[in-house]
Amino acid sequence: MAVCIKDIFHPTFNRTPDAHLICHMSQKRFIIIKNSFVGLNMALERTLSILKPDATRRHLNGKINTVIENAGLHIIAQKRIHLTMEQAERFYFVHKERSFFKELCEYMISGPIVAQVLQGGNAIQKYRQIMGATNPENAAEGTIRKMFAESIEANSVHGSDSAENAAIEIAFFFSQIEIFV
Ligand code: CMP
Repeated sequence: MAVCIKDIFHPTFNRTPDAHLICHMSQKRFIIIKNSFVGLNMALERTLSILKPDATRRHLNGKINTVIENAGLHIIAQKRIHLTMEQAERFYFVHKERSFFKELCEYMISGPIVAQVLQGGNAIQKYRQIMGATNPENAAEGTIRKMFAESIEANSVHGSDSAENAAIEIAFFFSQIEIFV
């Protein structure tokens, strides 16, 4: 089966400097791209993950990242930072008209966060699945928010909701030279 490598790249996958990818076909079921297994009907994607202040405060980073890695998502960039109010407001700009915007930003600067880039097949949707619903009360058993979140605000993790936003959010925290496959 002929598979054109360019067809499996999602727009969020930055082609430089990772453009020189090692690709092998195996049993016509998947492709290995820089150690990531990608089903033939999947797109290799990147998404932004944030471990929020309630997670860093309770030292849950390792437990949450175990769930992420067990789901087959690779952490290809990571930094621990303490956002300023200006940065929090800029990151959550899309929510600025929401009633909870001020509280959300205050919460996001209440302690350090860990921003990270995840890569894998259908990474955006897969990460949203393992995060669970925004409100932990509605989250499915086994999801990160069900297991760890304290409230709808202190819900432990953030994940990009679309390819377009993933590209924007990754660029908010990381430059090209900070992302390693
Ligand atoms: P996140 O996935 O980071 O995207 C926006 C965040 O706003 C969301 O997670 C929640 O932490 C927060 N949020 C959403 N709805 C509410 C709400 N009704 N009250 C407080 N915070 C909320």
